[in-house]
Amino acid sequence: MAKTQVGPMEFLPETLQSLSSPGLLLVSRDDRRRPNAMTIGWGSIGIYWARPVFVVPVRKSRYTYGCIKNTGDFTVNVLPGKLADLAAFCGTVSGRDHDKLTEAHLTPAPSLVVKSPIIEECIINYECRVVHANDLLPKAVPSKVRRTMYPRGDYHRFFFGEILAVHAQPNVRRRL
Ligand SMILES: Cc1cc2nc3c(=O)[nH]c(=O)nc-3n(C[C@H](O)[C@H](O)[C@H](O)COP(=O)(O)O)c2cc1C
Repeated sequence: MAKTQVGPMEFLPETLQSLSSPGLLLVSRDDRRRPNAMTIGWGSIGIYWARPVFVVPVRKSRYTYGCIKNTGDFTVNVLPGKLADLAAFCGTVSGRDHDKLTEAHLTPAPSLVVKSPIIEECIINYECRVVHANDLLPKAVPSKVRRTMYPRGDYHRFFFGEILAVHAQPNVRRRL
């Protein structure tokens, strides 16, 4: 069903609920313009520099890390409940050796503003352009977090994406 454009904060509770479980699909493109999706279970939506911003934490080992550095943008996509299992798939194999979208039967569609595509089957899509990025400071997190979350020193970079457009299907709440 056709999507409509909505405000950046209109589906905040639904998006955060889906972030916590099953996870959201963070989509970007590699240097050959191949789209790739990885699952995120952490992140935030808020206001920075008087703009709506989606902050996504990406470990440097992820294929997605190079893709976002390459495109300078990304999309964040909310799966419908009936496709929730795909979060586990996109969160366990890498775009380095899989064409995840094709294998998952997900359709990349052109975004309105950014280069990274949105996922047609997803019920909410956020188009974001990177306006800032910073690296986690290992010494600035509690030592327990460092030990349990980063045993191999694979730290996150936080990409701050200004939300430039949001698309939503009708009846989002019923499809979650
Ligand atoms: C539920 C779930 C949440 C995840 N959250 C994150 C996250 O917030 N940041 C991150 O770097 N990796 C996260 N991952 C791991 C990546 O999704 C996973 O390593 C993925 O295979 C990376 O894909 P890529 O190499 O194609 O970028 C998560 C995985 C799952 C299953």
